[in-house]
Amino acid sequence: MKDNNKDVERWCIILNQTVLVLDFGGQFNQLIARRVRESNVYCEVHPYNISIMDIKKHNPIGIILTGGPNSVYEEGSPKLDKEIFNMGIPILGICYGSQLMAHTLGGEVSNSITREYGKTLTNYDNTSDIFSGIDNNAYSWMSHTDYISKIPEGFKKTAYTSSCPVAAMEDKSRNLYAIQFHPEVSHTEYGKDMIQNFLIIICKAKKDWTMGNYAKTSIISIKEKVGNGKVLLALSGGVDSSVAAALVSKAVGDNLICIFVDHGFMRKDEAEEVRVAFSGMNLNLIIVDAKKRFMDRLIGVFDPEDKRKIIGEEFIRVFEDEAKKIGSVDYLVQGTIYPDVIESGFGNSAVIKSHHNVGGIPDCVEFKEIIEPLRLLFKDEVRDLGLEIGLPEYLVFRQPFPGPGLAIRIIGDITEKKLDILRESDYIFREEIEKAGLDKNINQYFTVLTSVKSVGVMGDFRTYDYTLALRAVTTTDFMTADFAKIPYEDLEKISVRIVNEVKHINRIVYDITTKPPSTIEWE
Ligand code: XMP
Repeated sequence: MKDNNKDVERWCIILNQTVLVLDFGGQFNQLIARRVRESNVYCEVHPYNISIMDIKKHNPIGIILTGGPNSVYEEGSPKLDKEIFNMGIPILGICYGSQLMAHTLGGEVSNSITREYGKTLTNYDNTSDIFSGIDNNAYSWMSHTDYISKIPEGFKKTAYTSSCPVAAMEDKSRNLYAIQFHPEVSHTEYGKDMIQNFLIIICKAKKDWTMGNYAKTSIISIKEKVGNGKVLLALSGGVDSSVAAALVSKAVGDNLICIFVDHGFMRKDEAEEVRVAFSGMNLNLIIVDAKKRFMDRLIGVFDPEDKRKIIGEEFIRVFEDEAKKIGSVDYLVQGTIYPDVIESGFGNSAVIKSHHNVGGIPDCVEFKEIIEPLRLLFKDEVRDLGLEIGLPEYLVFRQPFPGPGLAIRIIGDITEKKLDILRESDYIFREEIEKAGLDKNINQYFTVLTSVKSVGVMGDFRTYDYTLALRAVTTTDFMTADFAKIPYEDLEKISVRIVNEVKHINRIVYDITTKPPSTIEWE
């Protein structure tokens, strides 16, 4: 497991009150951390088996136990030192965390034959601090098989559903709270309020985590660390690397050199747009044309994880080569953010995708060190930070574009021909979405070239060509997402234009899946 906490000490002097999120390996775990930060409370995610001594070192105002895939009765399932419940620190157990609390403190957890999954009408006792100010009946997001069948001594039940007798319980005198459902998931009505109630009413949080403070402390830390060393930064033009560039530039000025690698998987006109966007910003910017290098390595590669890893590795090689040309470069900055770290297998969660700027980093990198000043920040925090340090809104609110670019929007192997098809179709899709004024409400939209070919008819001729998928999502955190409800008339316009203007596409489909169970990108 990566030790993310050393980064905390390195990048910011944490003067804030801290909540510890103990990770039991559920897929929504990091959303919990985001919800806490959103409430202006600093939190850190630690593995569930952190020692009592380490917990004390952090002097937390509260602890949250996350969900996880295990059953408390399973052999080897993650357990907690019982002592943790006697420390006098407010604790909120969620899903597996709630079952573990019940099990550890003498209650009972049982296995149900059916899984309770999805939006579930839940009855809340709103005299409980945690449910203060919310309706008695509202929907919660459930995802469990085991359930608390007997509450431990000293606890009272504070919520239930038709199939879950204890959807929440608490022992107010010991500041112990447990919730079976997932308040962190946006599908839970009032979920945010519940987390805020825990933080503000129960943990007495002062809400002292702000991006203004983070900017000040991280600029000082970067300055101290880098001294007069030269720093290279991978600029993609996306919000993360742009904010990282602006932040590091404030700390080291001219010693920062930004490199934009054109790997050939950029959207139409992207390299030029990046050049124009940053030309006014007083940054040392080098644009490297590495199209051939990347393409040579990707010929015949079909597997998405292989593609991601190859692209990540080649990126580093290009930087090493550029660094050698520049001479004596000490540090490489990357705009890695917290969700990248999480979804690349942080903690106990399963690896969903290796993000090219994390999973793809080879072991022998020829730099003294890699600096990731945004590693602990969520996307919305990165945007706030960007505005805080004076970046223009159009850069800060640009829709995200993945590091591996169009390479992961072509299913299967990549060819120049497929790239051209994808680029043109993507351009039309974006243009039409913007023309229709839908771009304000859709957080990410792009086309995907599937490997499916099907029969069509154009003029009087049979065609056998590609199926193109349109993907457009609304989301606040990119960890969960809904498909955008684009009006049919607009979809029709888009479809007609693409089929008429882009050769080799004879069928267009619209992706109507949410995340989860899908992801936003197709690979
Ligand atoms: P998924 O597909 O995992 O995407 O639901 C979530 C968000 O992350 C972006 N994404 C990436 N960004 N490097 C990046 O910098 C990557 O390897 C990568 N893969 C996905 C994706 O575009 C979406 O905004």
